[in-house]
Order: sequence, then C-alpha cells, then structure tokens
Amino acid sequence: MDKKIVLSGIRPTGQLHLGNYLGALSNFVKMQNEGMYDSYYFIADLHALTTNPDPKELHTNVRHILAEYLAAGLDPEKSTIFVQSDIPEVSEMYLLLNMHVGIGELMRTAAFKDKARKALGITAPNQGDDDEDVAKEIIGASTNKRVNAGLLTYPTLMAVDILIQRADFVPVGKDQEQHLELTRRFARRFNSFYKTEYFKEPQNFNFGSAPVKVPGLDGSGKMGKSEGNCIYLVDDEKTIRKKVMRAVTDGGPTEPNQPMAEPVQNLFTILKLVGTPDKVEFFTEAYNNCSIRYGDLKKEIAEDIVAMTTPIRERIIDIENDDAYLHRVLEMGAERARARAGKTLADVREIMGITKF
Ligand code: TRP
Repeated sequence: MDKKIVLSGIRPTGQLHLGNYLGALSNFVKMQNEGMYDSYYFIADLHALTTNPDPKELHTNVRHILAEYLAAGLDPEKSTIFVQSDIPEVSEMYLLLNMHVGIGELMRTAAFKDKARKALGITAPNQGDDDEDVAKEIIGASTNKRVNAGLLTYPTLMAVDILIQRADFVPVGKDQEQHLELTRRFARRFNSFYKTEYFKEPQNFNFGSAPVKVPGLDGSGKMGKSEGNCIYLVDDEKTIRKKVMRAVTDGGPTEPNQPMAEPVQNLFTILKLVGTPDKVEFFTEAYNNCSIRYGDLKKEIAEDIVAMTTPIRERIIDIENDDAYLHRVLEMGAERARARAGKTLADVREIMGITKF
C-alpha cells in the first residue's frame, strides 16, 4: 500500500532558531526515520517574494535553510527535499486554482490583514469593523502605499503546494491553520464545481503529541527572530552562553514552593526540552526550597543547548559551502517533486477543459 504523504514548507526569511528546530524540524527528522510516511519538505521561495526581499538575500536564505534542514538530519534519500520555484508546475496550477478563489475570502484571512496593515501603515485595527479597515484602505487607494496581489493570493499558492503533491498531512503551527482550512475549502470547491472527487482534504499533523512551544529568553512569549530572545542553530558556543546568561529572570523565590513567574517558568521549559530529567528535578527542588541560583540554572541550560546544537552547527557550515552537494540534493528533490506535480497538473488541466486538439 502507498504510504501517506506528509508535506511542509518554510519561507526562507532568515536562519532557523531553536524553536524551529525543537518545534518542527526535529519532528520532521524523527518522522522521516520512522519511515511510516512519504515526506516532502520544501523551501517556499515564491512565498518569500510576497514581501519583496533583496534578491541576494533571498538566495542566501534559501541556502541557509537548505543547509540547516540537511544538517539537522533530513536525508535526501529518504525525504523529498526541494525548492518551490524548481517546480514550475506549481506556478501554473496557481494560475488555474486562482479562478476558483474569491478575493473577499482572501481579504478576510488573518495573515493577509496583518501584512496588509503593515504595508499600508495602519497601526491598530479599528475595533468592531476590524475586517473593513484594510479593504477600505486598499480600494480607496488614498495613499501611494500598495499591497501586492501576491500577498492577497498567498493562500492560493500555499493550497497549490499542498494539493499538487496530493498531501495527506501538513504539519504546521497555529498561525498557518487558517491557510490549511482555506486549502480544504478550495479542494472541496474544485471537486464540487467539476463534479469530481479529485482532491482529498489535507489534515494538520501534530506528531502524535502536544505541540512543543519553545519560549524565548526575554521573559515572555515564544522564541522568535528577535535579538536577545532567540538562539539560532548557527550560534557559536560563546554566543549561546552569552544569550542564555542574559535571559530575563526575577529576584528569586522568597518563600518555599512559591509559584514561578513567567520568565523563570520559561527557563524551566527550555531546560525540560534540552536537559535531562534529573537536572530538571534538581533545579525544581532548588527553586522550591529557595536555594536556587539562577546563574547555575542558566549555565546548565547553556551547556545543554551547546551540546545539542554544536554538531548541527558544524554540519551546517560544511554543507553550506558544498555547492556540488546542494545542487545534487535539489536536483534529486526537484525530479521527484516534479514527477508528482506534473501528474496532478495534467489531471487538473484536463478536468478544467484545457485539453489538446
Ligand atoms: N505559509 C507557510 C509559513 O509561512 C509556509 C508554507 C508555504 C507552507 N507553503 C506551504 C507550509 C505548504 C505548509 C505547506 O509558515
């Protein structure tokens, strides 16, 4: 029997951090090695174009992510690893699928509204008619600022990524759930318009356990791409130690078994992810009996992170400089991804009436 298809993409907007690794990438690797699924992982460079990046930077970022994927253990023999723009079938199907996508539903997408507001310089959403400020501003065109059409049709492109490979499962975080919901909606709409059962509806995938949320080092929220809050996979040992030692804490517990403030809780969450259970127990007890020294806790966390990321970092550096290897990996990935995409595109063209004489 054919294995189920798992597919996920990442926008190349910078280097991967510990949150990306523990929350997603390490699970991709585990899943790949268990061999229960046929996995497809790609770098969504066309999606990155929606924010008009510098061309050189875009290319460098694709290289970074590719090297990081491979360094973390994704294996081009076991998974299909590719760059979105290497699959021209995606661009063609994006045009076709757009014929069945409404501009209204795209404009109501949370991620679109967010990015459009940023592009237009609208700060706070108007309370109440929160859906309308963006639409009014775009159509009114009273400013010389513009929201590009690619940003609007971002969900169409993402749906195509998924549907063209006929993926069963799409591991994505909460912020992408709405896009996945739209993908299902577009699939259903296509099926019902053409009276076919062609597309199946892809499901989110959580690796059989609760999603791992890696907190940041700045005291609140999750790890994201901001200075002082995040540890990159390519950070060297000195940088890691410096960042962890600077993490926000509080004045320390003043009475036994005191509840932990968020910044301290966050450090314990990180320790649980990178350290051993006996260390977690040791520091929890020290917190509870007020003998804890945050400096020691941070040292432990820093060393555990260093132990986890050093081998990955060393591989990243090797792989990143090996153009021939990168080229080989992508050639292999593109070949497999195109084979599957080409089949879907041919079917879709046929279904839509684009047929040869
Ligand atoms: N939109 C996703 C993100 O920003 C990236 C992405 C593009 C994606 N195409 C995809 C994720 C297809 C999963 C499947 O994170």
